[in-house]
Amino acid sequence: MANPSILILAGDGIGPEVMAEVKRIIAWLADRRGIRFEVTEDLVGGAAYDAHGTPLTDATMAKAQAADAVLLGAVGGPKYDSLDFSVKPERGLLRLRKEMDLYANLRPAQCFDALADFSSLKRDIVAGLDIMIVRELTSGVYFGEPRGIFTEGNERVGINTQRYTESEIARVARSAFELARRRSGKVCSMEKANVMESGILWREVVQEVHDKEYPDIALTHMYADNGAMQLVRQPKQFDVIVTDNLFGDVLSDCAAMLTGSLGMLPSASLGAPMANGRPKALYEPVHGSAPDIAGTGKANPIACILSFAMALRYSFDQGTEAERLEAAVAKVLADGVRTADLMGPEGGHPVSTSGMGDAVLAALDAGL
Ligand code: IPM
Ligand code: MG
Repeated sequence: MANPSILILAGDGIGPEVMAEVKRIIAWLADRRGIRFEVTEDLVGGAAYDAHGTPLTDATMAKAQAADAVLLGAVGGPKYDSLDFSVKPERGLLRLRKEMDLYANLRPAQCFDALADFSSLKRDIVAGLDIMIVRELTSGVYFGEPRGIFTEGNERVGINTQRYTESEIARVARSAFELARRRSGKVCSMEKANVMESGILWREVVQEVHDKEYPDIALTHMYADNGAMQLVRQPKQFDVIVTDNLFGDVLSDCAAMLTGSLGMLPSASLGAPMANGRPKALYEPVHGSAPDIAGTGKANPIACILSFAMALRYSFDQGTEAERLEAAVAKVLADGVRTADLMGPEGGHPVSTSGMGDAVLAALDAGL
């Protein structure tokens, strides 16, 4: 059998730097554990725009569709701020999500014990935190029509449309319920049913899917603004949170800070199963391209490394290797290895991006 294929799209800013550490882990797996992948690399975002005048070529899109998994670094940067909207770096990422139909975006926010003091919240609020945000990723206001900037009378009007079909809501709700079955059996669905019709439909459909197919799960509903407040008030009340594309974008950044740093949060974007039974999938850190620190060796590669761990688990049936990699990260953090983003107020000596990669590889070696 051919080795499973991975398409790496490192992208912009710190993307290539953090992805370099993942490439070392991929090489380590081949060398030390005989787990081999067919890796190809290509351009996305500003890097693709610079080379081809588009943030994602059709050829790259086709490669992504054919890959067993796509690993993405980050897209965007100030250099591209003045580009036309249609060719902005972010459009490349959104096209991948849409055309691969990656509707379930899993964003786990886990607070490693060694980092509980790094959160902007008190230790007892975040210690032991382990929640999973399931963000709908292919619809809602990110893609709804009509959209654009139009002229009405003598002024301009900016329009975006929040639009959800029942089937779009039902399928992401199922993803959340399935995950909850393997966790603590609790799902909280968030919307704004008090002001949005799409929120009313969201609440109804999630409840219907629950009642018909997942009566064993404890389902609650919350307005998303209250959800944001509860996430910082008492985050451990949650297990799985399911929400739409825009609320999920905002709530997951908020949840990321509970874990100590945005540099810690991985994600998996999953679609319908392929012929091999595995879902179409793209894995990416939740942090962005961080242009302010790009090229300085300050970036934390852990979110990207943990995204690769999710790939091992969800795309390659390598749950044990995923756990080993996650344990290596936890060990390194427990040993006090820190990138700059993980420095407390008292300061210290941060390691570089590759220094963190060295430490994770050493921990993997030690666990052999
Ligand atoms: C994210 C990012 C993206 C989004 C951007 C880069 C388009 O913020 O993945 O959370 O808004 O979805
Ligand atoms: Mg975001």
